[in-house]
Amino acid sequence: MSDENATGSSADIDVEALTEEQATAELQRLAREIAEHDRNYHQLDAPTISDADYDALRRRNQALESRFPEFVRDDSPSRRVGAAPAQGFRKVRHAQPMLSLDNAFDDEDVADFYGRIQRFLGLDADTAIDIVAEPKIDGLSAALLYENGELVRGATRGDGEMGEDVTNNLRVTGDVPQWLNGREVPERLEVRGEVYMRREDFLALNEAQTSREKQAFANPRNAAAGSLRQLDPGITKTRPIRFFGYAWGEVSAPIADSLWEARRRLAEWGFTLNEPARRCESLEAVLEHYRILEEARATLPFDIDGVVYKVDRLDWQNRLGMVSRAPRWAMAHKFPAEKAQTVLKSIDVQVGRTGTLTPVARLEPVTVGGVVVSNATLHNEDEIERKDVRPGDTVIVQRAGDVIPQVLAVVRECRPKGAKRFKFPDVCPECGSAAIREEDEAARRCTGGLICSAQAVERLRHFVSRNAFDIEGIGEKQILAFWQNGLVKEPADLFTLESRNEAGAIDPPLQDWEGWGETSVRNLFAATNLRRDIGIDRFLYALGIRHVGQATARLLSRHYETLDRFLDAMTEARERDSEAYQDLVDIDGIGPKVAEIIVGFFAEPRNRQAIDDLRDQIRVQDAELLESESEIAGKTVVFTGTLETVTRAEAKARAEALGAKVSGSVGAKTDYVVAGPGAGSKLKRAQELDVTVLSEADWFALIGAP
Ligand code: IVH
Repeated sequence: MSDENATGSSADIDVEALTEEQATAELQRLAREIAEHDRNYHQLDAPTISDADYDALRRRNQALESRFPEFVRDDSPSRRVGAAPAQGFRKVRHAQPMLSLDNAFDDEDVADFYGRIQRFLGLDADTAIDIVAEPKIDGLSAALLYENGELVRGATRGDGEMGEDVTNNLRVTGDVPQWLNGREVPERLEVRGEVYMRREDFLALNEAQTSREKQAFANPRNAAAGSLRQLDPGITKTRPIRFFGYAWGEVSAPIADSLWEARRRLAEWGFTLNEPARRCESLEAVLEHYRILEEARATLPFDIDGVVYKVDRLDWQNRLGMVSRAPRWAMAHKFPAEKAQTVLKSIDVQVGRTGTLTPVARLEPVTVGGVVVSNATLHNEDEIERKDVRPGDTVIVQRAGDVIPQVLAVVRECRPKGAKRFKFPDVCPECGSAAIREEDEAARRCTGGLICSAQAVERLRHFVSRNAFDIEGIGEKQILAFWQNGLVKEPADLFTLESRNEAGAIDPPLQDWEGWGETSVRNLFAATNLRRDIGIDRFLYALGIRHVGQATARLLSRHYETLDRFLDAMTEARERDSEAYQDLVDIDGIGPKVAEIIVGFFAEPRNRQAIDDLRDQIRVQDAELLESESEIAGKTVVFTGTLETVTRAEAKARAEALGAKVSGSVGAKTDYVVAGPGAGSKLKRAQELDVTVLSEADWFALIGAP
């Protein structure tokens, strides 16, 4: 090893065997090398290495960072989101480069920084150097250009020289002023700062992502970066990202003499500052603020990964200048990665709302960076395998910027004799249904969608939703209440609520529940009864089978036409060499992956039972029937005035069951207006627009009912 040390290259040494110094040097080398390859590939379209070699570099970088999280560089390839300027955004050349910061890891590094400044400026030891110490936000930097106080352009940092034009996205970012308030705003002013996401917003966003079966973000920084770099600003607008202003680039007139004063002006103009910041008159005060922030770290609403020190006097900043892309007048004092060692008592497997099985390490409680941790995620089964984590092991736990603590590594020397490898379950720990892994997926998922208690609320919510059974008056809140009271465990239970309530089996009866009452309960039953007839396509969609959205449900209904035929085919299709399986895979729009999932769902006896129970309550209409009757399919209908033979709700449900769209207002796209006595403005508007007006009797004649 010393030989390699001597030559200065450690690229061939096993990551586990590297010293800290070697690791730091190598992380730097990898950052440079990977950045160069990214540039060759993405900007010059001229890669110089194979994809496999490139991947190997990235893997090594990843392995190094896992072992030495405290040395992760700000310009690390793993922190860059995607490649340098992504396609789709215009590139922006920064008028002044966006610099990075040198890092300090301990008090001594900070003292060196202080001493260097003193020497460089030729100050004697008694001259105080005011230093502004402010939180280092774990986000991504951005530059906002204002002309005459108006935001005209916003860009990401990119590689420091060139960023991406994300103006439209920054316009919808929280705390980014469109116009600057106040006096003496320079004609041209570029404000720089950090785009970030608050921790609670991040958690809520992830919850929403998971419930829509979208990938969750690993941490608030990734979430912020992913949100800022959306090609559609409409998406960015829905994401809770925000901006802290803490620096500036080009300015047409000086904005202050000191950083402290400049911050005050930024705030006056409408920017939100990264607080708590402090102007420190001595090295001791600087270090004191570091400790305060370290302490406060866990309770701040956003992630910080250190404290940034900046010389306050701007004339001194100017004189100090920069060395190799980092200013001499500033430094980032990083917090140590929050790590601790403890014993892993057991591994539990949790089932998420959408059926994903996630292994969780139950730990002997330990304090990591001021927070007591007794659980940590192990991500998925491959991760357990790769790290060879076993119950009884002593493990290193980390809280990095990430909110959820993770098991970083096993301390092998401490493994108790006889510790057994963990066997990941292939049945769902909640409901006992088969848990399967789809091709190319890291997660294993429970297939018992309809009966699994972990998924029940989510599934039931989907079941009653607009494009499924569309039961008016039941939403997440009601489902949750029914579930918690044990009244509705599977879809069929929704349809027996009325008879159970009437028979006195619900205690207290629903109408006596808080927030209910006679009318709501009656409406609820009426709304439920309206859906006892349901089209097969809505029915299949309502089951919430993974990858079976409305379009796939429609394909299946058209192909099999009746539910009986479909269910029989799924039974046969369990044999993969059967005609039935081939027939399913052959449907245009259904590949082997989706076919596997569908067959798996119907192979689960408990799902079949839930469907049988449901069919005792409802009638599923054949597709053929639906289509042959659909004179009005695809048409837009408006009901107005009083209907005499049916309620408005029933008329609407029936029209929709036949494929019509029911709208509340008359417009150019309206095909029919069904007008009863008392019709007013809508009828008038229909006549103006020459829309066909039908009486209630005409309407029933048209749809072949009542
Ligand atoms: S000042 C010339 N202040 O850290 C100095 N940077 O390591 C430019 N960062 O790219 C940066 N909080 O994204 C500064 N209070 C803060 C910061 C901060 C976070 C980020 C920024 C920069 C990176 C450099």
